[in-house]
Amino acid sequence: MKHLIAPSILSANFAVLQSDIEMINNSNADWFHVDVMDGVFVPNISFGFPVIKAIQRFAKKPLDVHLMIVEPDKYIQPFKEVGANILTVHIEACTHLHRTIQAIKNSGMKAGVAINPHTPVQALSEIIFDIDLVCVMSVNPGFGGQKFIENTYSKISQLKTLIAEKNSSALIEIDGGVDLNNYKKLLQFGANVLVAGNTVFSSKLPSETITILKNG
Ligand code: DX5
Ligand code: ZN
Repeated sequence: MKHLIAPSILSANFAVLQSDIEMINNSNADWFHVDVMDGVFVPNISFGFPVIKAIQRFAKKPLDVHLMIVEPDKYIQPFKEVGANILTVHIEACTHLHRTIQAIKNSGMKAGVAINPHTPVQALSEIIFDIDLVCVMSVNPGFGGQKFIENTYSKISQLKTLIAEKNSSALIEIDGGVDLNNYKKLLQFGANVLVAGNTVFSSKLPSETITILKNG
């Protein structure tokens, strides 16, 4: 499977959000990456349901919603209702992860699990078969434009082994600090989805930057 590109809306210009959404619609991007932060799980607050609903009105590609919130179980149905196609929760925020994953899938969305930089890949061993995506955080979550953590490469290799061992079909998504210097190496190690915020939206020609990332 060719890898996927998911530009992160967190770095878009919210004053002209529709035009950034149209840029992604007309680009070679595959998904919209939508970061939800609650100011509790991470030291930042991003946006919630009204904004996601507005994104969904114009978006012509799937919404990949990354929840950086505590108690995500409370909000699974509302995220479905505002148009999430993939819903990713943090392993560090879920006491009953298996139940949370089942609830996401039962509501008709794909289920993802994100792991922070300090969380070992092995923590996924008993859930990997049940999930559609692993979001490997390559920065500490909370902000766009941070520096990529090099240990991520080793986590991708470990994850590939785990996915093969457990006969899982989970995609490996890399989130944070993806740029034009590291994306090829990430793909070589086995990344399936690249999230890119700052690299896309701070470039002069965002759509062309997406094409570069997509062409690998
Ligand atoms: C970080 C978010 C990321 C972020 C990536 O907490 O989960 O999705 O938007 O932004 P860049 O690509 O700028 O590191
Ligand atoms: Zn994210």
